[in-house]
Amino acid sequence: MDRVQRLHEVSDSDVAAWRDVLAASMAHDLPGEPAPTLDHVHGDLSTVGLESHHRLWVAKRGDEVTGVARLRLFDGTGRSHLGQFCLDVHPDHRRRGVGTLLLETIAEAAREEKRRSIVVEASSDTPGMAFLEARGFTCVLSLSLLLLNVHDAGDPTEIVHAEHPDYRLTRWLGVVPSEFAQTFATAKSAMGDMPTGDMDYGTTTWDTDRVRDMAEVVEKRGDTLLTVAALHRDEIAGFTELVIPVGDGTRAIQYDTAVVPGHRGNGLGLWVKAAMLDWLRAEWPAVGEIETDNAEDNEHMLAVNERLGFRPLRKTRQYQYEL
Ligand SMILES: CC(C)(COP(=O)(O)OP(=O)(O)OC[C@H]1O[C@@H](n2cnc3c(N)ncnc32)[C@H](O)[C@@H]1OP(=O)(O)O)[C@@H](O)C(=O)NCCC(=O)NCCS
Repeated sequence: MDRVQRLHEVSDSDVAAWRDVLAASMAHDLPGEPAPTLDHVHGDLSTVGLESHHRLWVAKRGDEVTGVARLRLFDGTGRSHLGQFCLDVHPDHRRRGVGTLLLETIAEAAREEKRRSIVVEASSDTPGMAFLEARGFTCVLSLSLLLLNVHDAGDPTEIVHAEHPDYRLTRWLGVVPSEFAQTFATAKSAMGDMPTGDMDYGTTTWDTDRVRDMAEVVEKRGDTLLTVAALHRDEIAGFTELVIPVGDGTRAIQYDTAVVPGHRGNGLGLWVKAAMLDWLRAEWPAVGEIETDNAEDNEHMLAVNERLGFRPLRKTRQYQYEL
């Protein structure tokens, strides 16, 4: 009989067991996808996301960890109605109710914390979708996961050097320099226009503290955050963020990209992303891939990514359950 145990402290052996479940689960459902490293899992379990807290559980049969679950509970204004979780059961222990047991634990905790909805992502054509649909979840957003092979992609230099008379590029590592903190916070709010389908995602208000805190969370996890921005006079008109995860760091993850409404239609999205690719190639040659996801109806972002050489990897879906 499996039982669920909440982890209050995370030991090295918890990290190793968690990583083993994730690696086996991914190898089973998404063959060829790189498994997370121990450093990456350690960073994830020991660092709480911005303006949120989390709860962690393992399912065990005897001493063996059969499943893992993490529920992130947002605390900030605009999103405190929401919980976001991930859940994995070791392939050797599936179809015995372990997933259901962990899901019930997650739902109970979310109710206890007065949440209205819980959301989760699953890849298309994997058991995750069948499980969530069997348990009453609704698909609220369809996404395309894209991958760019950094070394096979075309040379971005021509795009980087294209004329943008009213704009200039700047970039920074980690926390935003103080002279740009205010304008960056304003630009981050443009992410609110990102299509989120029927997801009960709430709104995020960005201010200078929040942009700094977000960068510090990434840093604390051990990851590297890169930002490239297009400036119009001294104001940020568009930006893109990329994270190189701690560990083997060969696959970078795209974070936010946005162009401020008054500056859209000037090719700035493509420009900042090409400049990011150029920077990455020059200074992080070990990074071979960039992963990103786009809502399937986000045609402008998809067009920019296609132009840069991103290719479809697989489809994913966001599922939601109203508590
Ligand atoms: C999704 C996952 C957590 C399910 O774990 P599990 O322990 O096998 O789930 P359960 O045994 O509680 O299954 C409950 C029900 O879900 C449905 N289900 C689960 N896996 C299924 C599959 N492969 N095909 C069809 N239906 C499935 C069935 O209705 C099942 O009931 P049944 O076994 O009586 O028919 C597991 O497959 C997994 O770890 N997948 C990878 C992670 C993932 O996709 N996470 C995102 C979604 S949570």
